[in-house]
Amino acid sequence: MAEVRLRSIEKQFSGGVHAVKPCDLDIRDGEFLVLVGPSGCGKSTLLRMIAGLEEPSGGTINIGSRDVTHVDPADRDIAMVFQNYALYPHKNAKENMAFALRLRKIPKAERERRITETAKMLGIEELMNRKPGAMSGGQQQRVALGRAIVRDPACFLFDEPLSNLDAKMRNHTRSELRRLHKELQTTSVYVTHDQEEAMTLGDRVAVMKDGVMQQLGTPLEVYRAPANLFVAGFIGTPAMNLMPGEAKDGQATLASGFQVSVPDSLNGTITVGVRPQHFRVASDSDQGAVELTARLVEPLGDLADVHLEAADGSTLLARLDSEWAPTEGATCPIVIDRDRHHCFDSSGQRVN
Ligand SMILES: Nc1ncnc2c1ncn2[C@@H]1O[C@H](COP(=O)(O)OP(=O)(O)OP(=O)(O)O)[C@@H](O)[C@H]1O
Ligand SMILES: [Mg+2]
Repeated sequence: MAEVRLRSIEKQFSGGVHAVKPCDLDIRDGEFLVLVGPSGCGKSTLLRMIAGLEEPSGGTINIGSRDVTHVDPADRDIAMVFQNYALYPHKNAKENMAFALRLRKIPKAERERRITETAKMLGIEELMNRKPGAMSGGQQQRVALGRAIVRDPACFLFDEPLSNLDAKMRNHTRSELRRLHKELQTTSVYVTHDQEEAMTLGDRVAVMKDGVMQQLGTPLEVYRAPANLFVAGFIGTPAMNLMPGEAKDGQATLASGFQVSVPDSLNGTITVGVRPQHFRVASDSDQGAVELTARLVEPLGDLADVHLEAADGSTLLARLDSEWAPTEGATCPIVIDRDRHHCFDSSGQRVN
């Protein structure tokens, strides 16, 4: 077990792409940290630098008390699991799991013990004599996980390990990973572009964009207080509604027709964000309701996603209780629930 410490770590590729801008990050001992962001933001590059597969252009990497910046990948005491499982096709599951242990001259009895224990933990005992070609994607991925686990590394590094699985298998394996991490408590860094996966798996999430870490926090911190417009739009589903407005003396008028209170420090052009879940149909006692027209209603059962046309012609998405949701074409008074709106200044930074 170990903490992973990055200091001013960066990567500039020879072509000039600055894939990771200087970044400080402390991954705590035993923590499951998720790096999340859109395609091309530098997640894999950062992970590959921790693994030693990519030489940093600057900065240092510590795993535990050791500076591993220039240490060979094989000597970093890490285990990686990729999207493509990269199992040896001619070896069966057991041999795949045993291979790295053999290389490290772990005695046979200890090898057997670790493999049996891990296979049991993952429910793959019956696959031990099968080759990858005779396994489903989900089974191969579990064997790949098993191969990483038996090594008992200081740190696991995962790069989109679930993205080749179908939705059901992905959900299942995701819960499995969560349970495994509780059990093993090995420091883990997990890369995904899927914010939902990040939110459900991470003790903390680091949101990246264009090679820059935008925010680091627990899933709820990032959800409840996104640091800037990018994080606001990226985390949470359906995506947050972002509405332009003008602020003055603690009040803002939004182009969509709403009036909201804002911090006194905010003046001039601002953006106000409201999650679809935080609009609701006004009751008689509500003040400041805005009449909006439902252009499209998508029933979800108890709830409905209602696309509302605002005063400025923009569309707002509201996730409403089906019982009160308007029908298509109807108008309906809408309020923002208990002032659950987010304020961003003209540079896109959150202001509380
Ligand atoms: N070997 C390389 N040479 C030059 N540029 C590269 C190389 N590897 C990656 N890049 C560039 O660095 C940037 C970050 O790439 P990276 O693979 O880290 O993104 P990512 O966040 O993992 O994206 P994805 O979600 O698509 O996997 C991209 O612009 C990519 O084109
Ligand atoms: Mg990647």
